[in-house]
Amino acid sequence: MEQLTATSKTLSECTPEAGRLSTGPGKVRLTADSPFLQSVLKGLCSKSKFLESKYFYDEAGDELFRQIMACPEYYPTDCEHEIFSRQTAYLASALIPDSEDFDVIELGAGDATKSIFLLSEILGRNQKFTYLPVDISSNVINNLQTQLPARLPGLRVTGLNGEYFQMLAKATERPAKRKIVLFLGGNIGNIPYEEARQFCLKMREHLAKGDLVLIGFDLKKDPRVILSAYNDKAGLTRDFNLNLLKRINRELGANFNLDNFSHYPTYDPANGACKSYLVCNISQEVNIAGETIRFRQGETVFMEISQKYTPDQTDELAHQCGFRRSAHFYDSRQWFLDAVWECI
Ligand code: AVI
Repeated sequence: MEQLTATSKTLSECTPEAGRLSTGPGKVRLTADSPFLQSVLKGLCSKSKFLESKYFYDEAGDELFRQIMACPEYYPTDCEHEIFSRQTAYLASALIPDSEDFDVIELGAGDATKSIFLLSEILGRNQKFTYLPVDISSNVINNLQTQLPARLPGLRVTGLNGEYFQMLAKATERPAKRKIVLFLGGNIGNIPYEEARQFCLKMREHLAKGDLVLIGFDLKKDPRVILSAYNDKAGLTRDFNLNLLKRINRELGANFNLDNFSHYPTYDPANGACKSYLVCNISQEVNIAGETIRFRQGETVFMEISQKYTPDQTDELAHQCGFRRSAHFYDSRQWFLDAVWECI
């Protein structure tokens, strides 16, 4: 749980005015160590309300995301699984340096279901390497640390729990070894295009010439296929979004009534932006850590973007950010692309 107690700035100093009605008595005090609260208040006090999707992943959120990945409408996991399971040897050959000792760093490792194919292949080639999974969820890292060495005997695992770039900085502090960075699952789609460019530039800054990255991009395709992946019949994606309100209730002492919000995904095939919103069903006020936030009927809370790409756009991104495209791996339907880029 995030810390709410330490002091430096009060909420009223920190939060924008729009949408805020009052500051409660006994003001909750904020510090840099309550980033979740700061993010929530910043988002819900903005003119166009939003919440940051990186906070979806508490224990319940992790479990819901696992269920989404297994549901029939959510194709990206199956596509990338197909690439990793059927093209493993080619992937390994595209990624492994000839003989050196190297590190495989996976940003947003999740349960590593796909990377396990690659790790197993590399182990089988008697290569000396360490796997460094990075994830914002401590549950994920704890599970990987305990379960992976049992599944892949001989695998060296050093889990890194935290934000991508803080952990990437830690990983690259290790002795100069060739780095291979994996960023799978179409996670890059959860950042708008311009920020994705900044993200890739920053990633490049942490790496050295010759290092490799493998990025999974969900590609543009039939808009109906995409939209239904974010609007599954079982309501898992709805619950995944609403779970963030539950988390805010539990961790920040808020009183959201989940029945007052509806999940509303959209997809614009022209620009490839798939966006999820929670739409407010009635006018209401919600208290969060002593703050009262007003919601109008029909008002939206932007929850998440899942940007879809064309292969050309991914090449352009590589080119703009100091990489050279070195290999492309597609699933059989060409719905998903794992692009290997070399740092130049
Ligand atoms: C983690 N990420 C790539 C998923 C996606 O497809 O954007 C998160 C997700 N949100 C709803 N369903 C899946």
